[in-house]
Amino acid sequence: MDQLFVELSGQYLSIIPVLLVIIALMSILIGTLRTGISPMPSSRKAHRQVVRLLRQSNALTSSKRQLIDCGSGWGNLAFKLARHFPEDKIVGFELSRLPWLFSTLAARVMGLKNLYFIRADFLKQDLSTADVLVCYLHPEGMQKLNHKLTSVPSEYQQQLISIYFALPGRQPQSQEQLTDLYRTKVYQYQLGRPVTSSNGD
Ligand SMILES: C[S@@+](CC[C@H](N)C(=O)[O-])C[C@H]1O[C@@H](n2cnc3c(N)ncnc32)[C@H](O)[C@@H]1O
Repeated sequence: MDQLFVELSGQYLSIIPVLLVIIALMSILIGTLRTGISPMPSSRKAHRQVVRLLRQSNALTSSKRQLIDCGSGWGNLAFKLARHFPEDKIVGFELSRLPWLFSTLAARVMGLKNLYFIRADFLKQDLSTADVLVCYLHPEGMQKLNHKLTSVPSEYQQQLISIYFALPGRQPQSQEQLTDLYRTKVYQYQLGRPVTSSNGD
């Protein structure tokens, strides 16, 4: 009897990892269907280009700025930004539960104190206070983001850096094609209040 119990409980226990994998895959699938894009991370070359652009620009010159990753996925890009710009506050909005949970725990383990992951739809958040928005989305996501940025324009100078997809109907300040497998383009836009001279022209 005891032998049978041990064998049965052993069989049930061996199913647990399989169940966990199925639950994880289902969770990722649901997130992908909901947002229209999987949490696939952007490439290291793309990360390097984003960091380069942020260093070149004057958007990060003052003491503490806010950078928002619109759809932070597993957090790869946000980790990089948090490490390269420790003075700044980095926020990643992510709807998909598992990538959000993973990135939140990983940020704790890495001790990145300037990095926050929030499980929320970035389209429903106030993005107008961010100095820099970064994203790696899909064409429909870019349209929705553009609509949001047009309907609630920031009062401040704001930058958007988009990996792979352009913001429809807007002229980028710069665009660079990378030498990665997908010939990824990285677009940089100036958004928000237009620059005026000191005498108000
Ligand atoms: C391709 S991944 C990019 C991840 C990360 N930014 C990077 O560059 O590695 C896009 C992520 O955006 C998330 N996403 C798409 N639309 C979203 C929305 N409206 N609110 C929050 N997250 C969203 C998806 O769940 C997905 O994880």
